[in-house]
Amino acid sequence: MRSYYSARELRVFDYLPETYLVPSQVNFELHPQFKAFKQACKPGQLWIFKPGECTNRGHGIRVFNDYEKLKQHMMEFCRGQQSRRGQSRYRHCIIQKYIKQPLLINKRKFDIRVFALFVCHAETGLIRGYFYDEGYLRTSSKDFNVDKWDNRLIHLTNDAVQKHSTDYGKYESANKISYLDFDKHLLRERNVSFLSTIVPKIKQQVADVFDATGRSLYRPDRNSEGGSRCESASEYNAFEILGFDFMLDHKLRLKLIEVNTNPCLDTPCMLLQRIIPQMLDQTLKLAVDPFLQASEHQYYMTQDLTVSEMRFTQVYQDSMDLARRD
Ligand SMILES: Nc1ncnc2c1ncn2[C@@H]1O[C@H](COP(=O)(O)OP(=O)(O)O)[C@@H](O)[C@H]1O
Ligand SMILES: [Mg+2]
Repeated sequence: MRSYYSARELRVFDYLPETYLVPSQVNFELHPQFKAFKQACKPGQLWIFKPGECTNRGHGIRVFNDYEKLKQHMMEFCRGQQSRRGQSRYRHCIIQKYIKQPLLINKRKFDIRVFALFVCHAETGLIRGYFYDEGYLRTSSKDFNVDKWDNRLIHLTNDAVQKHSTDYGKYESANKISYLDFDKHLLRERNVSFLSTIVPKIKQQVADVFDATGRSLYRPDRNSEGGSRCESASEYNAFEILGFDFMLDHKLRLKLIEVNTNPCLDTPCMLLQRIIPQMLDQTLKLAVDPFLQASEHQYYMTQDLTVSEMRFTQVYQDSMDLARRD
């Protein structure tokens, strides 16, 4: 992402929080990324530590206000992850600048879950990325307080963490808010439309991620530094649903905080009972139906037939041949 944005004379950390990707090896302190973090780390800042791959649901995530404590945690984490063969199960750790002043909704923190789809189609020789135009907000059930940075129930808004709160579901069903309700809220509070101002920015950032990484998703074996393996893409006919997590800060600046290859598809409330099956159904229409068609012509017919009801829009296209040569 860094080279993608700098090639366009843009600053990567305007789009994602300042992030350091450090191999989870015992002598991580010698790695340039950890050294750069050490240099950047100043008193009064908060940093969030996350395991790099093969994890989601808040596992192993902690917020720190102190360099030494973070380093200590990382040492223990790397040691604890050693497999029987002495290899760490996580290949990287992520150290990311914590967004200290997030936009709040009714005094509580939230993040935005967005779906995208990556499809490789052997018959056309194309790899495509799609953006799904409806996501949802995930709220915390406790009032935000930056001084209580070590309280996961205040600071981590994913369901896996929030469902352990005694206040889970107290303010919103399953702590979820629809795009439409948030749009009304933001218009009322800040005179800004979420749907027509922020969602297009989200869509552009999803397109940027596909542009920057699409070829390496198609060739997972070539994806050396830090990207998680997208197993299904090792075959030509393949698809993967991706879950993008975004946050807004108090100045409505949008930041991408992570991309999941295994997004949660649980349906704990009516909102998700509508969004998730609809998104899965459209995924199958785009990603699986064409494989069952006899010809390229029929493939496009399938796309035309569903276009009016489609909530996925294509934001990226590349050729398998170019990706193979890359
Ligand atoms: N840089 C950050 N600043 C503030 N909050 C963050 C940041 N990164 C993550 N979070 C919070 O932590 C939660 C979990 O982090 P995330 O990177 O999405 O990991 P997971 O894979 O466990 O979902 C997010 O839902 C968000 O509430
Ligand atoms: Mg997440």
